[in-house]
Amino acid sequence: MIYSELNIPQVPKSLVCCDPNEVRQQYPNIWREVPTTVYTQHVVSDELTNFLKPYLGDDVVVRYQVIEKDIPIHCDYGRTSAINYLLYEGGDEVITRWYENDKTTQKYQMRIPKFKWHKINTSIYHGVHGINDKRLALTVSLYNDV
Ligand SMILES: [Fe+2]
Repeated sequence: MIYSELNIPQVPKSLVCCDPNEVRQQYPNIWREVPTTVYTQHVVSDELTNFLKPYLGDDVVVRYQVIEKDIPIHCDYGRTSAINYLLYEGGDEVITRWYENDKTTQKYQMRIPKFKWHKINTSIYHGVHGINDKRLALTVSLYNDV
């Protein structure tokens, strides 16, 4: 599996913030592995977590992620896949691409739609291209799943 869409309902607008700058101002950054200028993660409200529990389990941990600019080709640090929900694209033609181990040959690409829960493989090389504004999504990390 590289990309698949999930049968989880859209999040009511009252439960999320769709402005990456507001998220950064209102919720502390809890991700220290990479520089703040590249990528940040922020806690979400209890109401949003409770909304997702019936679909993703009582132990679900949901975060906002803000991507500042194009993400170079990488494998994620510490997670094998992620369930994401895009709130703000950060550009008109933002493409997520996956690559073979040579980091050059393209395997798959997707312009991920907004407001659609999906799962992506983060254990194979991938990058995000075409970002010209901050990109905002909800993310749930999975550690043992590809
Ligand atoms: Fe990634």
